[in-house]
Amino acid sequence: MKRLLPLMAGMALVLSACGREDLSALNPQGPVARQQLELMKISIGIMSLVVLVVFTICIYVLIRYRRRKGDNSIPKQVEGNHKLEIIWTVIPIILLIILGVPTISTVFGLSKDYSNDPNALKVKVTAHQYWWEFEYPDLGITTAQELVVPTGKKIQFELTTADVKHSFWIPSIGGKMDNNDGLTNKMYLEFDKEGVYRGKCAELCGPSHSLMDFKAKAVDQASFDRWVAAIKAPVEMPKDEAVKAAFQNKCLTCHAIGETSTGSSAPNLTGIGSRLTVGGILFNDEAPVVDNLIKWITDPQKVKPGNMMPKAQDLELTDAELKGIAEYLANNKLEY
Ligand code: CUA
Repeated sequence: MKRLLPLMAGMALVLSACGREDLSALNPQGPVARQQLELMKISIGIMSLVVLVVFTICIYVLIRYRRRKGDNSIPKQVEGNHKLEIIWTVIPIILLIILGVPTISTVFGLSKDYSNDPNALKVKVTAHQYWWEFEYPDLGITTAQELVVPTGKKIQFELTTADVKHSFWIPSIGGKMDNNDGLTNKMYLEFDKEGVYRGKCAELCGPSHSLMDFKAKAVDQASFDRWVAAIKAPVEMPKDEAVKAAFQNKCLTCHAIGETSTGSSAPNLTGIGSRLTVGGILFNDEAPVVDNLIKWITDPQKVKPGNMMPKAQDLELTDAELKGIAEYLANNKLEY
């Protein structure tokens, strides 16, 4: 037991929150995660009970009826015992019913499709190596890395991928579900409290799989409406001509900002200055957003190995252009 303690402490640490936002399914912050935790509790409870009873009987029998020294007699031979057989058939059936009824009803409840519910918000999630694209088809907006949702509404997700298989997971809110190629998976979640929740990719998808984080920001309906209006507002280009040319020719070929570009193979940059992170992993409260942007643009491979973005050097960005672009993006903020 003494030797197991550090291991158990380690497990507890792994299972509990050890980041900034909670990444634990054991500390649910929404109705879906709460229902999922209830199922975990029931199944772990029943399994623990079975293990406990079986092991107790087993250990008792091993000790009580072991062969003792000098005892060479042959034990009583038993062939079948109806009473026992009925007991050990009926008990598991009862346990399976106790486990099965809530499992089936919850699983079917959670797989309900709110696509046609006028009160639900639809979000199409496209996973990319190694970032998340969030499209709100009914609102005509697309954003990346930071999912903004209103509280108290069903959010109906449509999950797909642009490349390999990923998995969409916001542990404290619910999930997870795979993003498959050529197939749309549907899942709904609900955020009943305002806050920032950490999301993760939960399917090994390449060298930066573990860095494929995103944020889910739940805000009240009025803030959400302001966010929608802000993200749809026209975006100004950089004032400096050289920076503007570099940004348009080297960034907007893949990225989009506002309505000014059709680039969509890379994260949409609208409002990037007010996001909590750059690239989902450089925290803007640990370093100024402009520094994080410079770090990212200078060498994205160093931050997230294997992603699609070339280095500043390979894009032939001058230092002044790089700095100008970072400052421009840092100031591209959404008020909501
Ligand atoms: Cu995407 Cu792991």
